[in-house]
Amino acid sequence: MYRLAGLCAGYAYLLKKPLSKVSRRPHAVVTPLRRRWNISRRDLIRDRGLREGAEDGKSVVLVPSTEIAVAAAGPTMPIARKAMQSKDHWETVYATKPPTEVSWYQSAPTLSLDLIRKLDLPADATIADIGGGASTLVDHLLSLGLHRLVVVDLAGHALAAARDRLGARAAGVRWIVGDVTTPVLPEASADLWHDRAVFHFLTASEDRAAYVAQARRAVRPGGHLIIATFALDGPTQCSGLPVVRYDVAGLRAEFAPAFDLVAHTTETHTTPAGHAQSFLYCHFVPHPSALMPD
Ligand SMILES: C[S@@+](CC[C@H](N)C(=O)[O-])C[C@H]1O[C@@H](n2cnc3c(N)ncnc32)[C@H](O)[C@@H]1O
Repeated sequence: MYRLAGLCAGYAYLLKKPLSKVSRRPHAVVTPLRRRWNISRRDLIRDRGLREGAEDGKSVVLVPSTEIAVAAAGPTMPIARKAMQSKDHWETVYATKPPTEVSWYQSAPTLSLDLIRKLDLPADATIADIGGGASTLVDHLLSLGLHRLVVVDLAGHALAAARDRLGARAAGVRWIVGDVTTPVLPEASADLWHDRAVFHFLTASEDRAAYVAQARRAVRPGGHLIIATFALDGPTQCSGLPVVRYDVAGLRAEFAPAFDLVAHTTETHTTPAGHAQSFLYCHFVPHPSALMPD
């Protein structure tokens, strides 16, 4: 809110500009934001995929209006060089395909919603949709009255699409462009960490260990973790990237000893193109003696 308040007029002005056109005005608006979030100009350009250009003979930052929408919502966390290739991939996916046409699209994420309803969380519970992309989960959670929602994703374009879809309702959601294998959420801040179709992209064991450490750090004592991955009979690739498929024992082993498995179930997702994909959903809770990082 506080970020929006002072800059509202500037954004209103900017959003009237043609889509990827530029002037010193966007630069003038982005500068106070990046100072507030302590992000260097170079990192802002690199992490958001913004470009430098020239106008009237002066160097300016090229800022598409979707990027301004994301910048207005929340910080871009520093993204390690290693994750940049992955970020580039996902930014391109969301910049070139409507969210309703990606293979993982669900108009209603019914199984996630059923599992979340069963947790009986209070309306002010903090729910983080990890790698939430442009998922409609946030829309449905808001409709259920849950109002402390955080959506984290590598791709600013995905978050911009979700924000555009939500319109005014997006203002109550925290949108974070960041890599979930790094500290994107405050310690012990989340009542629920929800991840559908993100963990399975981590094919390197050190990335999986980093992810679990971040989940353990961010989920508060008494909180929950819901992870959905491709099952053993699911696809070997998604979005052109390799994935790791899991059975219950495999996923449980990845999250032990930090988390204890509570329940598991499966789902067959039908992609917009009509293909069936097997998913495994696991519900974990933090292990009592392993709540915080070493
Ligand atoms: C297959 S999509 C699933 C999106 C969403 N969870 C859903 O079910 O609709 C995978 C998402 O994970 C995001 N992602 C991949 N690696 C990530 C990482 N290390 N940190 C944050 N997001 C990541 C991608 O940008 C993409 O939006």
